[in-house]
Amino acid sequence: MPALVVAGNWKMNTTISDAVALAAGIRDGAASAQGVDDVELVLCPPFVCLAAVRQAVEGSAVKVGAQNMHFQDSGAFTGEVSPGMLQGLCDYVILGHSERRQLFGENDEAVNSKIKAAQAAGLKPILCVGESLAHREAGSASDIISGQVRAGLEGVSDCSGLIVAYEPIWAIGTGQAATPETAAEIMGGAIFETLRNLFSAGADDISLLYGGSVNGGNAGEFAAQDCVHGALVGGASLQAEQFLQVAVAVAAAKD
Ligand code: PGA
Repeated sequence: MPALVVAGNWKMNTTISDAVALAAGIRDGAASAQGVDDVELVLCPPFVCLAAVRQAVEGSAVKVGAQNMHFQDSGAFTGEVSPGMLQGLCDYVILGHSERRQLFGENDEAVNSKIKAAQAAGLKPILCVGESLAHREAGSASDIISGQVRAGLEGVSDCSGLIVAYEPIWAIGTGQAATPETAAEIMGGAIFETLRNLFSAGADDISLLYGGSVNGGNAGEFAAQDCVHGALVGGASLQAEQFLQVAVAVAAAKD
């Protein structure tokens, strides 16, 4: 079975001191939370908090990730952060989040370049895919998702360390999560089949996360599905206790 992973996407929240307090709360709580030893916890704070969060979790098993990254090494890209700048600060990087795609105009081609650049820099990419409500209602969710996975991973030959997160856009921040069955249909279907096509047996080791209104109450139902290996958590990752409840539920469901 692929590694169990629960990642917290803090989005544009937390000052540096907020971030340190949250990270410390998760670090300390994780030490005594049931089964959480079996789950890779990844905290993804804003760029400016990465160094402080990294320091706060040092010596623990808690890992750090960035929320985005440019694909170029350096240059005249005002406001951007390169893969090399993240080296040593984090192990993971979220790429292609729907907010990046929708609000900042990221397309599949850019996401693909970022995935390759992350791997070249030794960062583990968390590739996010998800369909809009309009696409779901039109019956094209599976096609959209397999297209995003294929395009995001075009020319990628090594899938070690790769994570794919299914986050239906209509479920993000709405309090209305997908049903576990809907998630499993896409994750065990369009996503896994596309990964199988691309990476053959290597696909069996890729962790697939569900994201979109995940909390301690529903995380276990998602993780009870064979093709779900954890969660990408937004709102509920901003409180240590809630985030750890997600991890406990994932661990228990896979026990
Ligand atoms: P949410 O966000 O858990 O607040 O729905 C998930 C995400 O956008 O990664």
